[in-house]
Amino acid sequence: MNVNKIREDFLVLNRKIEGKDLVYLDNAATSLKPKSVIDAITSYYTEHTANIHRGVHTLSQEASEEYELAHKNIAKFVNASEEEVIFTKNATESINLIMYSLLNSNFFKKGDKIVTTIMEHHSNIIPWQYLEKKGLVNLEFVNINKNYEIDEEDFRKKVKGAKLVSISGASNTIATQNDIVRLGKILREENKTAIFGIDGCQTAPHKKIDFKKLNIDYIVFSGHKMLMPTGIGFLIAKKEFLEKNEPFLFGGDMISQVALHSSEWNKLPYKFEAGTPHIASAYGINAAIKYLEKIGLENIEAHEKKLVKLCIDELDGKNGIKIYGPKNDNHGGIILFDSKLNCHDLATLLNDQGIAIRSGMHCAEPLVSSLNKEGLARASFYLYNTEDEVRFFIEKLKDILE
Ligand code: ALA
Repeated sequence: MNVNKIREDFLVLNRKIEGKDLVYLDNAATSLKPKSVIDAITSYYTEHTANIHRGVHTLSQEASEEYELAHKNIAKFVNASEEEVIFTKNATESINLIMYSLLNSNFFKKGDKIVTTIMEHHSNIIPWQYLEKKGLVNLEFVNINKNYEIDEEDFRKKVKGAKLVSISGASNTIATQNDIVRLGKILREENKTAIFGIDGCQTAPHKKIDFKKLNIDYIVFSGHKMLMPTGIGFLIAKKEFLEKNEPFLFGGDMISQVALHSSEWNKLPYKFEAGTPHIASAYGINAAIKYLEKIGLENIEAHEKKLVKLCIDELDGKNGIKIYGPKNDNHGGIILFDSKLNCHDLATLLNDQGIAIRSGMHCAEPLVSSLNKEGLARASFYLYNTEDEVRFFIEKLKDILE
């Protein structure tokens, strides 16, 4: 993997921040986009603008083909069938789709249990909280152990009798990469019927997903964390689930036939894609998939782990720094850390050096506030970050703390 060559494709890396070269270490929030993705999106607006599935004219045909190709590409990327790939606005909307679809289908009965974990992003807590607030379900949270991994005994105990179990593939804070296959086995030993869903936001950009092998009911992820534009997200769900359950959004394109008082739903995946979608994104998705496949996710993950190891070796326990996360190979491409400085002050001082990190609660307040009620700092890596950038970050961080 030639990182210096890769960097030429990301024009924003030419930016100066406070007169210094940009060092972008906020990839868990959103990734930068390569030129090929930006050009592909532009080509929709400059050469192919039209709505999809609505016209026989050339432009509409071209846009529809590209949109359908994006479904095919995502299906292939995660080893699912095309009918199982739903385009949404983002992963948050995808989880809301699951929640509302089940609610509309009267799936939950009063007193049912939903299980998630304390390491979740807000998007995998709040939709379920909404059902709890309605008095419909009880929400339970699986704890983590001393190594910041899911406590398997607690998981085993809590999933008993649950109607739905929804957990992250990898944490956006403590960087834990959960072993979904292993947890799925434990789940099925205790509970044959619960819906098993995964928040794959911090997994899909870095690790190969095999939807069929994972043996889960659904996985959600966002495009913008994996070289794609903002405003596009994905829900991959088993065909039987999508066939059985009611839609979430209602309107054009999700129907096959409409009369004044009744309608028939469209075939999958369009039953769950109401209204004009983010068509330009389809062009970006196709270019991004091509880019990621050319580099190889396994190479991206190995590169990030090398950068993480460098940070742990150089920073953990030094200058008052504490890094949170598993002390083994299950630690993904994120460094969540505490120091003697307030995290926002630290992020501001690093920004003066051109270094972009995130600070605060990271949309995972229950966990992060339990570690430090003022929040924590986070550096997160992707394919275009170099070892030199990480060494520069380490040096400036130590300078500031000294
Ligand atoms: N979920 C994004 C993050 O972790 C925004 O920063």
